[in-house]
Amino acid sequence: MGIMRTMDVDTVLKRQETGDLKRRLRGRDLVGFGVGIIIGTGIFTLAGVEAKTHAGPAVTLSFVIGAVVAGLAALCYAELASSVPTAGSAYTYAFATLGEVFAWIIGWDLLLEFALGAAVVSRGWSGYLANLLGLPPQWFGEEATINVGAVLIIGVLTVVAVAGIKQSALFTNALVVVKVAVCLLILGIGVFFVKSSNLTPFIPPSRPAGEDADVLHQPVVEAGLGLEQSAFGIAGVLTAAAIVFFAYTGFEALANLGEETRNPRKDLRVGILGALGICALLYIGVSLVLTGMVPFTEIDEGAPLADAFDSVGMHWISALISLGAVTGLTSVMMVELVTIGRIGFAMGRDGLLPKKLGTVHPRWGTPHRVTIIGAVLIALLAAFVPITELSDMVSIGALSAMIIVAIAVPVLRRKRPDLQRPFTVPFSPVLPVVAALACLYLMLNLDVLTWLRFAAWLALGLLIYFLYGRRHSRLRES
Ligand code: ALA
Repeated sequence: MGIMRTMDVDTVLKRQETGDLKRRLRGRDLVGFGVGIIIGTGIFTLAGVEAKTHAGPAVTLSFVIGAVVAGLAALCYAELASSVPTAGSAYTYAFATLGEVFAWIIGWDLLLEFALGAAVVSRGWSGYLANLLGLPPQWFGEEATINVGAVLIIGVLTVVAVAGIKQSALFTNALVVVKVAVCLLILGIGVFFVKSSNLTPFIPPSRPAGEDADVLHQPVVEAGLGLEQSAFGIAGVLTAAAIVFFAYTGFEALANLGEETRNPRKDLRVGILGALGICALLYIGVSLVLTGMVPFTEIDEGAPLADAFDSVGMHWISALISLGAVTGLTSVMMVELVTIGRIGFAMGRDGLLPKKLGTVHPRWGTPHRVTIIGAVLIALLAAFVPITELSDMVSIGALSAMIIVAIAVPVLRRKRPDLQRPFTVPFSPVLPVVAALACLYLMLNLDVLTWLRFAAWLALGLLIYFLYGRRHSRLRES
């Protein structure tokens, strides 16, 4: 049936030389894009929510676990991105190793990750802005019938994303400076308010979930083993690790910039590993300071970090944190929109999506059509649907793509041992296998409802593939 046909790696590499995208990015732009998309709601909101509901002060441990899993996956991404630089990233690696249907599923999955990510973040952004400037909640808050704030920000960022990759990079770098400065301020000042009594016991003892028990919100691994639902303890730390993994998602987007980077063989791995390393250190520090400043039972779930500083009388820092959150979330959406464009472009070029989507604007050098269509869908979703709780869908999407990327590393080594590999994952195939298992384990700690939604999305994707992609694939013609 041809659904397992693979794309020749040389075809992918040749497109490097003849592609339409413009090579305008340097290493530091990539680090900027990376930090730009990584630091966002995960640390500004989820860290506090998870400390309060699942892990207590040990949410710091959850961030360490997340960093290890993301780090393993990042090594695999770094090998593939530097040896096969392409706008499609995981989608194209799967096409070159596992076959077309896997490639489609991963492309579809990544579109979900970044589109839903942008929609979730735009609503969070709207709420923070309303908070900062005292804007009317009926247009900017979660109660809004039409979330005008979310639509406005997606609109503005789409214009920048379409205008050019260099413009997007300059804008992102400026935002990143502000949010990293805010994180450093939280660390530098917050550390003086840490009380060791707030950090003990570090892992609060496990307790039955009791009245809160609800099988749809139970981690799939616990539900599958028939375990009783509980909160806190080691299981709570693992549940929190799966949820705060959201905070690390996004670094993979750098791998999509392989056709726009001046020296992809070197700069991509520096960007991926550098950005992730910086963010992991900031996250571990910030979560420790937060839980050290406030007893975990008293953390504010809406704006945990700002509230922590309010509670010790440092109101000016609290205002700066809100500003940091607004700029931080802006750059997350910026990079997500850019990435959707690149994945859609790669899938259109291969014929799995309509070919017209995969064309690049002659002057701007950006895949404008797919970027604009994606943005309109995101804006519609963000305007009308309260989707804030869908952040777990972003994590499950990212983790499943990471599994495929980890598997693709040893498969490609066997298939194409001759390929020039500027960076290699140590101890392959052991380390890629450990990376895949670690990602799977975190996925199993996400709840039953997230798995059901994810299965529905994949089923819809397969339907579209069999009705459209399989018949229009460029590989069919050759
Ligand atoms: N990692 C990004 C965030 O935390 C998506 O908002």
